[in-house]
Amino acid sequence: MLSSLVLLLSSAAGSALALNNGLATTPQMGWNTWNYHACEINSSVILDAASAIKQRGLDQLGYKYVVIDDCWQAAERDSQGRIPADPQKWPGGLKNVTDAVHQMGLLAGIYSSAGVLTCGRRLGSLDHEEVDANSWAEAGFDYLKYDNCFNQGRAGTPKLSFDRYNAMGEALNKTGRAILYSACNWGEDGPWNFGSEIFNSWRMSGDVANSFDRASDYCPCESTIGCQLAGFHCNIRKIINMAAPLGQKAGPGRWNDLDMLQVGNGALNRDESITHFSLWSALKSPLILGNDVSTDLTRFSNESLAIVANEHVIAVNQDPLGTPAERILNLDSGTHQIWTGPLTNGSYVVAMVNFAEEPWTRTLTLADIFYDAGKEDQQARSAAWNVYDLWAGVDYEAPARRELTLMEGSPFRESLAESTIPPHGTVMLRLTPAEQ
Ligand SMILES: *[C@@H]1O[C@H](CO)[C@@H](O)[C@H](O)[C@H]1NC(C)=O
Ligand SMILES: *[C@@H]1O[C@H](CO)[C@@H](O)[C@H](O)[C@H]1NC(C)=O
Ligand SMILES: *[C@@H]1O[C@H](CO)[C@@H](O)[C@H](O)[C@H]1NC(C)=O
Ligand SMILES: *[C@@H]1O[C@H](CO)[C@@H](O)[C@H](O)[C@H]1NC(C)=O
Ligand SMILES: *[C@@H]1O[C@H](CO)[C@@H](O)[C@H](O)[C@H]1NC(C)=O
Repeated sequence: MLSSLVLLLSSAAGSALALNNGLATTPQMGWNTWNYHACEINSSVILDAASAIKQRGLDQLGYKYVVIDDCWQAAERDSQGRIPADPQKWPGGLKNVTDAVHQMGLLAGIYSSAGVLTCGRRLGSLDHEEVDANSWAEAGFDYLKYDNCFNQGRAGTPKLSFDRYNAMGEALNKTGRAILYSACNWGEDGPWNFGSEIFNSWRMSGDVANSFDRASDYCPCESTIGCQLAGFHCNIRKIINMAAPLGQKAGPGRWNDLDMLQVGNGALNRDESITHFSLWSALKSPLILGNDVSTDLTRFSNESLAIVANEHVIAVNQDPLGTPAERILNLDSGTHQIWTGPLTNGSYVVAMVNFAEEPWTRTLTLADIFYDAGKEDQQARSAAWNVYDLWAGVDYEAPARRELTLMEGSPFRESLAESTIPPHGTVMLRLTPAEQ
């Protein structure tokens, strides 16, 4: 009786509805023009990035979507009410570009805003949803990033935001084309509540800065819940903290989007990049590269490439169970954090994050991870586990030849190995049940 009730409750929580378009069953991966190129884009930038993705083998790791962000538009709608592509930037039209992207086995994305203008003050799609969705479908797009600028004040309640984003969702659905719907409303009005059935992912904060922890008044909220001004210049540390309560709302087809990656954009050191990528992966954020991915290979250092190409960390992000990690220990006023989450086949991921300026040494115990009084956690605490360090084996010269490092003395019971985590760094472990 009791256990069937628990089952019922947990399956109700686990089966929250997602948008019924069959997409993003694991978080989407790809590349977007904005963080590096901003408005300076054209067909050669896109085709060069697509070629580089192939050349680097990034598509084989899952980076499939090549997303054109803002500033692709011409200045005026045409006689049929459509937004044409800027002919200077896209001399062969957008279809020409998506065809080339598809020929490479990749997928193509486009951008607009649920407002009268986009954030870059180009034409927006508010009240033009059907005509715009149709023209993107005809041009062969597979993905829409849909922003929130110039929304005419049609926000401030979940219903107002829902209506604006649902109008585009319905228009996309009506095209009959499978188009991944990536909402970018910065957490306004709680998209994890009103939006998880109408889009595949939602941005949960103001725009990410190219900074690990520099404070900015332009990202004023400490929590995204009830935030009145999402803003921008939100640093990596702040977004991780803001995302902490939201994992419970995500799952296959419906993801918290922590914003695009800043790895390779020059401001984050190696340990900061590892923390950024580890947490984006463990929290099941879409992994959208935002650096200069081009066929000029000097533009993407081997060190940055090895970080975003760590297949073991990507496997955590793409784990079919789709359960975001939960912060289980927030120590020393948040400077030291431990996150865990279940993976398929009875495995777990653990991330130990050090936001401090000094190294942090700590022995992880099974009681840290399996802290519940219930039977399952009791059993897990006394079981034997193999422990893999997902970053220790990274070889920057030959990213393809990384091996998982089994920590010494395995299998582990009770206490796991002591880890020393560098300033701003993260140790990421995978625990798998050991053969008894
Ligand atoms: C495309 O944009 C890049 C980057 O801004 C620029 O270097 C290049 O000259 C442009 N190409 C064309 C054909 O406009
Ligand atoms: C795109 O247009 C160019 C120039 O018109 C043409 O050479 C090329 O074949 C086109 N590519 C595709 C994939 O249609
Ligand atoms: C449109 O929505 C219906 C109902 O949810 C769904 O069955 C269908 O797969 C959707 N089509 C597309 C193209 O997303
Ligand atoms: C990356 O490593 C390769 C192989 O060792 C080397 O040839 C190349 O110069 C390196 N690239 C950069 C940008 O350092
Ligand atoms: C789970 O186990 C099955 C059976 O051994 C295996 O085929 C599958 O790849 C595993 N899944 C993951 C995500 O490791």
